[in-house]
Amino acid sequence: RRRTAVLRRETVLATVPLAVAALIGAAGPTAADTTGAPGAGDRYFPLSGNGGYHVRHYDLTLGYDTSSRHLDGTAVLTAAATQNLSRFDLDLKGLKVTGVSVDGAPAAFRRVGQELVVTSHHTLRKGRDFRVTVAYNGTPKPVTDPDGSTDGWIPTDDGAFVAGEPQGAMTWFPANNHPKDKASYDITLTVPEGRTAVANGVLLGQRTAHGRTTFRWRETQPMASYLATATVGKFKVEQYTTHDGLKVYNAVDPREAGAAAPVLKQLPSVLAWESKLFGPYPFRSAGSIVDHAPDAGYALETQTRPLYDSAPDLSTLVHENAHQWFGDSVSLTSWKDIWLNEGFASYAEWLYAEQHGGDSAQTTFAAYYARPASDHLWAFPPGDPGSGQNIFDTPVYVRGAMTLHELRKAVGDRDFFRILRAWAADHRGDHGTTAQFVRLAERMSGKRLDGLFHTWLYAKGKPDRA
Ligand code: ARG
Ligand code: ZN
Repeated sequence: RRRTAVLRRETVLATVPLAVAALIGAAGPTAADTTGAPGAGDRYFPLSGNGGYHVRHYDLTLGYDTSSRHLDGTAVLTAAATQNLSRFDLDLKGLKVTGVSVDGAPAAFRRVGQELVVTSHHTLRKGRDFRVTVAYNGTPKPVTDPDGSTDGWIPTDDGAFVAGEPQGAMTWFPANNHPKDKASYDITLTVPEGRTAVANGVLLGQRTAHGRTTFRWRETQPMASYLATATVGKFKVEQYTTHDGLKVYNAVDPREAGAAAPVLKQLPSVLAWESKLFGPYPFRSAGSIVDHAPDAGYALETQTRPLYDSAPDLSTLVHENAHQWFGDSVSLTSWKDIWLNEGFASYAEWLYAEQHGGDSAQTTFAAYYARPASDHLWAFPPGDPGSGQNIFDTPVYVRGAMTLHELRKAVGDRDFFRILRAWAADHRGDHGTTAQFVRLAERMSGKRLDGLFHTWLYAKGKPDRA
């Protein structure tokens, strides 16, 4: 029935002038508007994410052979169509797709760069849920980012370090790969006996048979695809429940265990301190994955369980866990707003030092502000770093944190911390934009702050008054 309607519309389109066709298009589905866009519209990463649907849940069943580095996967996505859809994209880079089905019926697919283009055998109706199953396998490789770093599935000597910011989720599962679209996840991962596979949320169970162990993980809270992990290695595992009832799961590479132990011991008190400052911890589980992954070169705030490439220092532990509020629970709407993640997590480090016998945030601020106008810190304004090449660069982290410090000075401590807590509470499990943060700060303080935010987030060069 629906298919007939679409066919008729196509016929009309072929015989009327374009302007008229556009008018008709507004009245009903055309071939063009049943095609989901290949990107989510992000200026920095135009092909990341896709249009036409929202993924509610990812059910990933993976097998990883640590010696051959072969990955076998089945992804079942439950999604809701946000428009009528006859064709839509998923993001998947590398790997071989062996079959795709939509609502149980085989679907046609082709690969165009990072786009897995799926043509459904029937038109999916706007507002309805549908289910896509993708069978795939191959040797996952990390993706190289505009700044030269790599992310995604990064093989290690005993497994893989799996960190997807900003683009790497698509190196190991088909995704609507943009933080705009958050979903719950079930991740089931089978690895050789003796290796541990760690993902997000809670461990539902673990079973060994025929020399292989299967780990079943579940994250029920909405999660951006870049925050999903399936890190594999030889790990020492520690599990406990905190006084606040949080389930903690720490997995540590034995080579990092000595250096990591005193820092990981602080996790409950760091989370309690952050909860006092930012409001209730947004998730039900917590923990750490301390890998030995020299090829990665960074840590990532993987949801519920940050991932470190080596034993973290306390400040890094504070940073990655602060992201659970700022970045993970309150997610970006576009990558240009990255200071909402990195500026906030960096400022959490300054605050932690201030309240634990270290430098005051003002002292830290002043030391950075003393840098000459030629310093890289002032190379570009953090509110719109210009391209994906700059999103993890110093100005985003440091001048982003400086922006929050300026806000604090302008509105006073009481309102500043009320604003931080309201930001985390109002956008919990959801998204935020810089404009929304500015409005919130103005509303709660009763002050006009557009000048301050303009100077610190958007004006080129070193701000002259501080
Ligand atoms: N968000 C991470 C952090 O600052 C950094 C991720 C860097 N990713 C990359 N591909 N270089 O905690
Ligand atoms: Zn960060």
